[in-house]
Amino acid sequence: MKKEEVKKFFEQTNIYFNYDYNIKIRTETVAEFIGDEYYSNVLDMPCGNGFISLKNSNQFNALILVDFSENMIALAKQIAEQEKVTQVSFYCGDIFETNFNNKEFDLIISLGILAHIDDVDKFLNYIQSKVKKGGAIIIQNTNSNHFYSKLIRLYLGVRKLLGKDKYTLNKVPASRVENSFKKAGFSCQKVFRYNQSFIGFSKLFSNDKKYELTRKWFGNAAHNKNASLGSDYIYLFKKE
Ligand SMILES: C[S@@+](CC[C@H](N)C(=O)[O-])C[C@H]1O[C@@H](n2cnc3c(N)ncnc32)[C@H](O)[C@@H]1O
Repeated sequence: MKKEEVKKFFEQTNIYFNYDYNIKIRTETVAEFIGDEYYSNVLDMPCGNGFISLKNSNQFNALILVDFSENMIALAKQIAEQEKVTQVSFYCGDIFETNFNNKEFDLIISLGILAHIDDVDKFLNYIQSKVKKGGAIIIQNTNSNHFYSKLIRLYLGVRKLLGKDKYTLNKVPASRVENSFKKAGFSCQKVFRYNQSFIGFSKLFSNDKKYELTRKWFGNAAHNKNASLGSDYIYLFKKE
């Protein structure tokens, strides 16, 4: 049931118009995490419109983009063409129906999924098992135990009561993600923390302004200011 609602929601690719500044921040954070490393086989799952990994793909030999939204994959194909990225393949389908034929990846990018996926632990175990030893996972989570997340939840609860939103986001504490990776033999190499929601004030600011305010307040991955105030975490985990 939830899966159908999530799919329906993400078929509306116009969410990217209001979300654009956040994509820019995610793209730059991935670039900062990657540094000058090169990766042979990279998986972005779920990729949304693919912008984040396509923009960083000059450091990837081969890139696979996965998403179950046909419209997102169509956008990703357009962006790949515009960006002249040829070492990319696309899979339109459910994450848990992917079959990589025992292939393991050097880098997996999974941003914006833990709040939406039916089974968080199954997803974490799946991506952890698909990375080579010495490989890395870049994953994002909104820490449900953080005070700012609680504020967002309150705001979203009111929207839901008013019939403006349909489904409830998963609550995933930072400790759940961190413990899962630790247990699977990963070490946390980098974290960037910020807030991706302007709680009801989003429409007051342009994407450029939201980008500028976020950078001013939280800095970047190399110099993360006010990190303790950020409920949104982007991690770089390495498989030891
Ligand atoms: C918040 S977006 C994030 C996309 C991208 N990673 C980004 O940061 O822009 C979540 C994406 O997950 C996809 N998605 C959610 N559940 C999925 C599933 N079970 N299988 C495949 N894609 C899924 C949605 O279609 C949507 O494009």
